[in-house]
Amino acid sequence: MQTLITRDAIRPLPIQDLVSEIENGLLAKVASISPKFLYDPLGSHLFTAITFLPEYYPSNIEKSILNQYQNEIASAIGENTTLIDLGAGNCQKAESLFGLLKPSTYIAIDFSVEYLNEALFKLQGHYPQITMNAIGMDFSQELKIPNTVPLSKRIFFYPGSSIGNFSASEAQTLLTRIKSQAGDGGLLIGVDLMKEDTVLKNAYDDPLKVTAAFNLNILRSVNSLIHSNFDVRQFRHLVKINHQENRVELYLEAQEDLIVSWPGNARPVKKGELIHTENSHKYTIDSMNKLLNKSGFKSIQVWTDPKQYFAVMYAQ
Ligand code: TRP
Repeated sequence: MQTLITRDAIRPLPIQDLVSEIENGLLAKVASISPKFLYDPLGSHLFTAITFLPEYYPSNIEKSILNQYQNEIASAIGENTTLIDLGAGNCQKAESLFGLLKPSTYIAIDFSVEYLNEALFKLQGHYPQITMNAIGMDFSQELKIPNTVPLSKRIFFYPGSSIGNFSASEAQTLLTRIKSQAGDGGLLIGVDLMKEDTVLKNAYDDPLKVTAAFNLNILRSVNSLIHSNFDVRQFRHLVKINHQENRVELYLEAQEDLIVSWPGNARPVKKGELIHTENSHKYTIDSMNKLLNKSGFKSIQVWTDPKQYFAVMYAQ
């Protein structure tokens, strides 16, 4: 075994920054909570459950594209790379590529560090030949790959269409940063494509209500961080499709008038008022190509499914 994962590998995010970020969102005219707070330990498990839902097509289709075109993808990327997993979660998606890509190093980055550390520890046991490291980082704020990570053949892996959770300009900022740190490597990215409303509605409001639980759990995640008194029973999960902005919008809607309070502050919330939790932008192959070009990527390969619901791209 080449590397042991130690607690030192994890750089926890300063709690005070998180608290002020949550407070600012809650006190804004239109209240919002950053989607990164969806992924506390329970939320991370609920999201994993979402990826098993037949209605949540992105995970299934992305997997089948990666499987169907594995040889083309592997020859585009090459072997002995440093695979840098952005938003690694349970590390399963990256693990499914180990056999194909044979990376020499695996760097797992996530905001939810406890969950990540656990997952990576298990993984290292199964793949002793791969050097592994976990980094706790909010790469939506700043993407800094430590100097100790080899510069050559850095392959960034950004699956699940998480890029869709940023606005176009934020996405461009992140993609530009990735390009600047990829050196002679590249970016393997999953991109969700625009499609009929009913398919989107079902994917984001499934009949088993797993997605509703996942979205509502953000209130409990916030309660534990800022000691607020949100009661999930006073809210419901709400999905809107915004055609002007090409995105699915996720909210929590208050079911009654209430006041949420936490040490030092409070906010009244009227019945019907919305708390925004997430945007999920949907692209076309053409619009994502343009965005990648604007971010400095020159050569782009695209693989998609027969219905063109989802695309996997490798950009250099
Ligand atoms: N990144 C995922 C997506 O946009 C996250 C997600 C899935 C999500 N379902 C959700 C976020 C429901 C909030 C609420 O597809």
